[in-house]
Amino acid sequence: MKIVNIIGLALWVFYTLVYFAILSRTKRKKNKISKYFKVSILLIVILAFVNIIVILNESDAKPEDVNKTTTSSSSEVKNEKTSEVTTMEKTTTKESSGTFKKINHDLSGAIDSGTTSKGYSIQEKDGITYIDGYMIANKTYGLPSTFNPGKLDATVEKAADKMYEAAKKEKGYNMWGQSQFRSYETQKKLYNNYVARDGKAAADTYSARPGFSEHQTGLAFDVCAKNKPCITSDFNSTPEAKWLSDNAWRFGFILRYVNGKTNETGYKYESWHFRYVGSELAEKLYNNGDWITMESYFGFDSEYKD
Ligand code: DAL
Ligand code: ZN
Repeated sequence: MKIVNIIGLALWVFYTLVYFAILSRTKRKKNKISKYFKVSILLIVILAFVNIIVILNESDAKPEDVNKTTTSSSSEVKNEKTSEVTTMEKTTTKESSGTFKKINHDLSGAIDSGTTSKGYSIQEKDGITYIDGYMIANKTYGLPSTFNPGKLDATVEKAADKMYEAAKKEKGYNMWGQSQFRSYETQKKLYNNYVARDGKAAADTYSARPGFSEHQTGLAFDVCAKNKPCITSDFNSTPEAKWLSDNAWRFGFILRYVNGKTNETGYKYESWHFRYVGSELAEKLYNNGDWITMESYFGFDSEYKD
């Protein structure tokens, strides 16, 4: 109990006693009523004053009480703060994912060759097609046989390393890029082997013809995981494939050959093939797990001319 409350209570007791004293005296000395009455009024004023102080003190104490009574609510506040922190962390993750930026190709001197069905710019430079600034290699847009970056793009390699690190840290998965940059010549040998084995029509469903492989851009690669089937449809049902599909966008990668969208990409589902576009577009194409293809998003096709 606060000191003002004690004083208030004491004064109230005192006032009550005085009041009864007044009553008993006024019975005996009627002529002194006015004097006792004045005292009584004075005490009432004092009591009222004290009560006002008490009330003021209580109202001052309200914020403190709120905090006290909401010790439970204090944890809610903490929770709110925690969720703020979480949001911040998420934002940070997103921002740090934002460090996986779109690659700025030097398009000075590029020729404008129209727009896609969805209005995105198509530019050509040195025989390479860029749609909305993204280098494209599919069945419609090939690459010159002389185009040979020689290895995976440095930005892509760094982002891929981050992705493998995250897979290890978050899930304990051991993953790596198995088949990364492939030159025109390498692709030619590979494709020809597949044609010899399965025939051209079948090979075209899963292997790019030389000059049409995204591997030649240095922006795409195939992922393998320890003790799991590697670069085969048996990888599709592994938890590692699921993790990649759910998380690759965070590092700027897209699942390039989406399940059930062969009519758009021109290829069968490849749960292991990822292409760098930067996290901004990757998140859009990830589409909360319902992957959109580049072809559908930008509005272009993937078909060989012959
Ligand atoms: N497997 C993909 C389509 C390639 O050969 O580039
Ligand atoms: Zn591939």
